[in-house]
Amino acid sequence: MSNRKDVILEIRNLTKTFPGVIANKDVDLDIERGEVHTLLGENGAGKSTLMKAIYGIYGMDSGTVKYNGNPLDAKSPKDAIAVGLGMIHQHFLLVQEFTVLENIIMGLKADKGIHLDLGKHRSRVEEIVERFEIRLDLDEKVKNLSVGMQQKVEIVKVLYRNAKFLILDEPTSVLTPQESQGLFGIIERLKKEGATVIFISHKLDEVLQISDRITVLRDGEVIETVVNKDLRKDDLSAMMVGREVTLDVDMPEVELGPDGLELDKISLVNPGGKTVLKDVSFSIRKGEILGIAGIDGNGQEELAQVLWGTLKASGGSIKLHGSTVDDLSTRKRMDMGMAYIPADRKKEGLVGTFQVSENIVLNSYYKPHFIKGLGQDFGAIREYSERLVQEYNVKTPALSVWAKNLSGGNQQKLILSRAIEGNNDVFIIAQPTWGLDIGAIEFVYRKISELKEAGKTILLISTDLEEVRSLSDRMCVIFEGEVSETFRVQDKQVAEIGLLMAGGKRREE
Ligand SMILES: Nc1ncnc2c1ncn2[C@@H]1O[C@H](COP(=O)(O)OP(=O)(O)OP(=O)(O)O)[C@@H](O)[C@H]1O
Ligand SMILES: [Mg+2]
Repeated sequence: MSNRKDVILEIRNLTKTFPGVIANKDVDLDIERGEVHTLLGENGAGKSTLMKAIYGIYGMDSGTVKYNGNPLDAKSPKDAIAVGLGMIHQHFLLVQEFTVLENIIMGLKADKGIHLDLGKHRSRVEEIVERFEIRLDLDEKVKNLSVGMQQKVEIVKVLYRNAKFLILDEPTSVLTPQESQGLFGIIERLKKEGATVIFISHKLDEVLQISDRITVLRDGEVIETVVNKDLRKDDLSAMMVGREVTLDVDMPEVELGPDGLELDKISLVNPGGKTVLKDVSFSIRKGEILGIAGIDGNGQEELAQVLWGTLKASGGSIKLHGSTVDDLSTRKRMDMGMAYIPADRKKEGLVGTFQVSENIVLNSYYKPHFIKGLGQDFGAIREYSERLVQEYNVKTPALSVWAKNLSGGNQQKLILSRAIEGNNDVFIIAQPTWGLDIGAIEFVYRKISELKEAGKTILLISTDLEEVRSLSDRMCVIFEGEVSETFRVQDKQVAEIGLLMAGGKRREE
């Protein structure tokens, strides 16, 4: 290198292993002061681990890290925070019952005695929020916030601890495009103030938009670092996956059968008395994919749960294969062939401290083919799990690993494999590709098209409008708990759909 750059973070020969996995291998990486540096790589490539090693969450096996020229040997995040680092995790760590302000100041040292001086903190938090033009109601409880807003709370929390170096691990995977643009505004502002940012994302468009430089990791190793100039998405996916990937889906022509799922005027009033679903009616035929587009937080989650039987509707009726299931438990609905791929994989999808194979048979361990005599047929369970892990390319050193030790994207693949391969007929699929790398998205789209081809009934709920448009036969838009009339994807322009998503035009009564 000829001209010396101003390197703020220097990583040399960093290696981090877990039992059976080399998560990071001999990583060398220089981050320059004031840049936005993106880490790109397939699910399980080692991005989160590398960041956690620097941040003091994991000890490293070997290697050195220097920050501002000084050794940074963080034994815990406290050490990293003390020198000015701040990390925002792939999964939020906020306390749902606390207010925004409480979450932001949580964990700080008390000012006098055991009490925090709330007033003092409030005005300082307000200052930051204003300076970065972040819109946040400090007194709202976190549980009432959309994920986009929760993201902002995490950021303010980090800024409040004076971070000059931010690590954002997949901050946008659960954000709408609008929310992501809001986040990028904040990142630009941070850059202007001299901050440095490490950014992790699978969304290539935004990587190209926001990065100064990009480093590609594969199987724990640095493949290369490139300057973000004249790069195209294809270049990125080729560097990452080793081949070009297109997400164009060829949906098969399928002769539609009778209705697999029917909703008649489903409504839901939450315990606080607020109407979250209002007269939702539609039906989906066998072999058909109906997509529901909409900005997160407009009732999608509740609708899925009412269908799955974990929330009871306040009114209306649901039919599965023509028969009413309103009073049936989730288990009964499952036995009738219903499967659910939840958006919130942490809360509903996996049991973190169960093994990979235990999670795979979580909903089916009692079925005849997994039973031998009076107990489980562990051989059959292992065989089945092995097949799924292989086919879905779930990266794990063993079937006995706890699910929570898989990388984010690999947890998602596990949930998908379980639902799709479970011999089910009616699928509620929410956010199938959150957190997946581009190769995995291509695979999942193909799987969904195979389900359609096999005559399954599919409800696709996604905040990604492009995803809804490319997979669905018909679609509708959900806004504040009401769905629009359904229409064929080709019958409406994107702009018109966008208007519906923003609540621009309500359905005619
Ligand atoms: N706590 C842990 N215990 C055991 N193995 C782990 C642990 N954390 C990560 N791993 C393993 O290390 C490897 C790298 O995981 P990491 O989470 O860093 O991937 P990633 O690049 O962030 O992937 P994703 O895009 O899916 O988030 C994976 O094989 C994963 O299974
Ligand atoms: Mg990760």
